[in-house]
Amino acid sequence: MTDDLLRVHGGHPLRGEIRVRGAKNLVSKAMVAALLGDSPSQLHDVPRIRDVEVVRGLLELHGVKVTEQADSLVLDPSNVDTAKVDEINVHAGSSRIPILFCGPLLHRLGHAFIPDLGGCHIGDRPIDFHLAALRQFGAIVDKAPEGLHLTAPGGLHGTKFELPYPSVGATEQVLLTAVRAEGVTELRNAAVEPEIVDLICALQKMGAIIKVHTDRVIEIEGVPRLRGYNHRPIPDRLEAASWACAALATHGDITVRGARQVDMMTFLNVFTAVGGAFEVDDAPGGGVRFWHPGEELRPVAIETDVHPGFMTDWQQPLVVALTQARGLSIVHETVYERRLGYTDALNAMGATIQLYRDCLGGTPCRFGRRDFKHSAVIAGPSKLHAADLVIPDLRGGFSHLIAALAAEGNSTVYGVSLIHRGYEDFEAKLTALGAAVSA
Ligand code: EPZ
Repeated sequence: MTDDLLRVHGGHPLRGEIRVRGAKNLVSKAMVAALLGDSPSQLHDVPRIRDVEVVRGLLELHGVKVTEQADSLVLDPSNVDTAKVDEINVHAGSSRIPILFCGPLLHRLGHAFIPDLGGCHIGDRPIDFHLAALRQFGAIVDKAPEGLHLTAPGGLHGTKFELPYPSVGATEQVLLTAVRAEGVTELRNAAVEPEIVDLICALQKMGAIIKVHTDRVIEIEGVPRLRGYNHRPIPDRLEAASWACAALATHGDITVRGARQVDMMTFLNVFTAVGGAFEVDDAPGGGVRFWHPGEELRPVAIETDVHPGFMTDWQQPLVVALTQARGLSIVHETVYERRLGYTDALNAMGATIQLYRDCLGGTPCRFGRRDFKHSAVIAGPSKLHAADLVIPDLRGGFSHLIAALAAEGNSTVYGVSLIHRGYEDFEAKLTALGAAVSA
């Protein structure tokens, strides 16, 4: 398939300006939230990525009228209706977002069908927290070969729930269900990522009453009706960090318009420790400029974590930059048990990365003393050479692309359509940054 590969002539610094738009991991959830309103919602700065297309398709199957206005989507849920199981299965594709339709569809229709979930293969990614929470709200879950059928014969009622781990998706599940459940819900050990706070802002605009307490406690007072929202999402801090790492790995200089310092503070600390330079432009339309200042990069020891820790999605692009640092870097991945598989390809390109089952360099995590190679030691600097690469998952795939751009010579990267799930127009952005790439 010629349209699913990218030929990269690497070894040149990426220089110039690109722009990031609304965060993928907020936009897709805010689109689902529109189901809860009794009037249309308007979402601005929506990136053209595959995850948005998938959610749009699923909403349309359920009777939501979706119209585009410049870079915004208007989502009208006046005629929400049941969708056919086989059509849902066809449209859900590779996304994990369908699981978040449970609460809103139970409120709107009294029943919901959720297909088998896709998403990146970076761990088992169970949905046990989601189902336990939904059952506590009063949902009945029937598992069938084609997916999950949910009903709520007695309605959905507020509840007290403590997450075993601060899961982003399960926190969103509770929010999207509790806002219209009868009574008060208290969620303990909630995730508080900026995308979740932004979802809370959109829900608040709809009329929801949500209090975020200290110590990861969120309290939601259910209301009988919600209206549509008008919302401009936070920018995509994951995409911004990916470009920052591309600047570092290629000795480049990239200004990411739309990126905000406040969402990236933890990343910026590590970026600085490695030896990267940045400059913030706070003016409207501003962004963050990231560059390699010329001196040799330094190794770091990091541990991925839930917010406000170092995001797991920042890990893969950073590791490519760490292959260029002098000395030993340590990365302990504590969010997903299998998120280091992409390093095999980097080793094949000349990197020296050794994986370990132990929890290296930090506090023991859930994956320690089990069969998961979830720590990495990266020895650098390594001269990367061109290779043929097959994209394994979204972030791992983008890091392969960065490695190909950093390596001298001609690489071919296969399966790049996966990157379209979360990176808008990345081929055009690469060209704008001076990369020699072609389909
Ligand atoms: C979201 O995934 C993001 N995806 C991920 O980004 C991100 O890496 C992750 O949060 C962590 O920040 C979207 O927002 C669409 P989790 P999510 O529930 O919600 C375990 C990307 O590349 N868990 O916080 O699926 C789970 O296995 C993607 O943009 C359970 O055990 O992540 C994992 O180890 C990849 N049971 C941990 O919790 C459950 O029921 C965190 O997962 C739910 C989760």
